[in-house]
Amino acid sequence: MAKDWNPASWRSMPIEQVPDYPDPMALAETEKKLATYPPLVFAGEARKLTRALGEVAEGRGFLLQGGDCAESFAEHGADNIRDFFRAFLQMAVVLTFGASQPVVKVGRIAGQFAKPRSSNNETRDGKTLPSYRGDIINGIEFDEASRIPSPERQIEAYRQSAATLNLLRAFAQGGYANLENVHQWMLGFVGGSPEAERYRALADRISETMNFMRAIGINSENHPSLRETDFFTSHEALLLGYEEALTRVDSTSGDWYATSGHMIWIGDRTRQEENAHVEFCRGIKNPIGLKCGPSLEPDALLRLIDRLNPENKAGRLTLITRFGHEKVEAHLPKLIRAVEREGRKVVWSCDPMHGNTITLNHYKTRPFDRILSEVESFFAVHRAEGTHAGGIHIEMTGKDVTECTGGARPVLAEDLSDRYHTHCDPRLNANQALELAFLVAELLKHDHAAAPQQQQAARR
Ligand code: TRP
Ligand code: MN
Repeated sequence: MAKDWNPASWRSMPIEQVPDYPDPMALAETEKKLATYPPLVFAGEARKLTRALGEVAEGRGFLLQGGDCAESFAEHGADNIRDFFRAFLQMAVVLTFGASQPVVKVGRIAGQFAKPRSSNNETRDGKTLPSYRGDIINGIEFDEASRIPSPERQIEAYRQSAATLNLLRAFAQGGYANLENVHQWMLGFVGGSPEAERYRALADRISETMNFMRAIGINSENHPSLRETDFFTSHEALLLGYEEALTRVDSTSGDWYATSGHMIWIGDRTRQEENAHVEFCRGIKNPIGLKCGPSLEPDALLRLIDRLNPENKAGRLTLITRFGHEKVEAHLPKLIRAVEREGRKVVWSCDPMHGNTITLNHYKTRPFDRILSEVESFFAVHRAEGTHAGGIHIEMTGKDVTECTGGARPVLAEDLSDRYHTHCDPRLNANQALELAFLVAELLKHDHAAAPQQQQAARR
């Protein structure tokens, strides 16, 4: 177990991004109540994810992590969850084929509620109120009652996370994730895409492979791995009181686990070495993500790695880089070289969303070409450094929203107002997300051809 650590040791450290709860007693009561609630995930599942990510760190897999920027209470419903999962699985199939490697599937879902903000307050028409910090903390409506942080919201976030996770588990194991279905959906997408020709070759090869398997008697009736998949959850561990309340000792190993989700990550704004968020995360055994932005220097990164993964366990730590499409070459190589020089085992994942946000017609948006360009640079740098481009981390939804511009069926600047539904940052819609998967699959194929990977053991 980590030295001098307990689930509450973060409380004596400096901390950023803390909501100002007007009633600390009520907050403490809520945290006490949450601490009696059942865990949302089981430690054995988190260990399974660490193992899968360990394979990615060693160059034998690819991480797909994606979902809402911020989940909301208002948009919670079976249709949204289903549509997200449907888009996500299609991406996973395309990437699995492109990489010829297992894809580790991790949603930004069932707990992604708390948001860091650049300013504590927001002013509109001369009126100043606390900033919106995510539905687990306060309400998005611009009125005083909504914006005051309310502890009760943590109970609602727990309830929603439990319900979402329950449905996702049913989908992943109950037949909805059947490869045959997912493949049919994917063909539907390709048929309707303006880029159909470009994607057809890959889609046809997947079809042929499926036909071949069927011909030799491998089908979802006799091979459960064709109809089931492992799906994991993740979120930013920002609201530490909530995380602490759901942190439990695993009786089988005696280790502490955050049971609010399988993987949690530390944001670019809360990754100070001596601060609370790093302190909390160093003591739990779950796989951890660390967002790495342009201000992170190699030495600071190495110190953070020492803190978060002192045993250098592959799969424990995923570095999620988010620089902006024109800044990848200036920042990524020096981080990779430092990590390689010190022999640290990490998963390198690319978040092409957060460094590419612009404002158009008063809407926060992200142009699809910049997102793609950041991913391309990420792959190019890893190819040049001889390291494994291990994954992508994206903000997406299964709905046909108009939040990011561009794509094969382009969303134009003037379309943004049509279906701009996000509670926080702009997300790729279902078509844009799947298109990105096809383009990344091409990059993966290229890497694969350049440096053939060793044969993969069959796995789910
Ligand atoms: N079990 C395998 C996997 O998860 C194959 C699989 C079944 C799959 N359903 C899927 C892959 C849906 C991607 C999407 O990789
Ligand atoms: Mn975001």
